[in-house]
Amino acid sequence: MKTADCGYISFRDVVFRFSNGSANVLNGISFSIRRRSFTAIIGPNGSGKSTLVRHANGLLAPTAGEVWVDGMDTRISANIPDIRRRVGFVFQNPDNQLVGTTVEEDIAFGPENLGMQPSAIKESVEFALEVTGLTHLAGRPPHMLSGGQKQQLAIAGAVAMKTECLVLDEPTSMLGPAGKRSVMELLKKIKRDLDMTLLLVTHFMEEAVFADRILVIDDGRIVMDGTPQQVFKSRSLLSGIGLELPGPAELSGRLRDGGVPLPDPVLTVDELVECLCRL
Ligand SMILES: Nc1ncnc2c1ncn2[C@@H]1O[C@H](COP(=O)(O)OP(=O)(O)OP(=O)(O)O)[C@@H](O)[C@H]1O
Ligand SMILES: [Mg+2]
Repeated sequence: MKTADCGYISFRDVVFRFSNGSANVLNGISFSIRRRSFTAIIGPNGSGKSTLVRHANGLLAPTAGEVWVDGMDTRISANIPDIRRRVGFVFQNPDNQLVGTTVEEDIAFGPENLGMQPSAIKESVEFALEVTGLTHLAGRPPHMLSGGQKQQLAIAGAVAMKTECLVLDEPTSMLGPAGKRSVMELLKKIKRDLDMTLLLVTHFMEEAVFADRILVIDDGRIVMDGTPQQVFKSRSLLSGIGLELPGPAELSGRLRDGGVPLPDPVLTVDELVECLCRL
């Protein structure tokens, strides 16, 4: 019998072409992510990031190759409900994923669909409200939330369903600075406190630095796979595909060029302040 390898989510030689497309969007993607890991995916516009992550919970099936989630092959339609129970998805546009007339109802939607008992639903909803900091907004209609709160609500839905993994496709790209910060703080919290596996597509390098691992995608291929330290040291490869460094890495690079002895790379503002204060 065929089984998945040791990864929680495993892509094996995945090729994907849209039925109306003439070219492959994914050109042989292979990687595995471990349970409880935090992986970021970065890459230029149109490189295939959204197409790739939509394979991670069976929203898309490979044209060739295989994707396995917790030992289940996503090409087998009977596996899809179990896969979606494990892997939740948060989309870019917060308005596209709200279903309830109140925050509380919205969160309850997933557990209800799973057929949970009313008392268990209530408990799950209360837990998700507390984890995501939305308890004070439980009775509010979702359309009256800020963008950041709507994304917190989408994440609350997954927390209430006790999904093991959350895939987020540019969850902060439509948010202002405060919304971006609150969503990233929440992701760090659910990774730390709930042991969730995270797969985050982002255009913001300042967000990618929080991951354990970064996959860099270009033209449907993985062109780099490493820790944030390794990836953001590869300046020429990144700039060659139009990607920037996180602000602190860019600034510390210029200071280094000007003779200031700083490590390469410095990834966060806190790290940069600490290095400068030690000089
Ligand atoms: N439904 C579709 N039908 C046909 N082609 C598509 C479809 N969706 C995306 N594509 C094409 O597939 C390629 C990869 O798109 P994808 O959305 O995965 O890129 P992306 O890396 O997520 O880009 P962005 O950073 O802009 O979100 C692009 O060339 C895009 O035009
Ligand atoms: Mg995309």
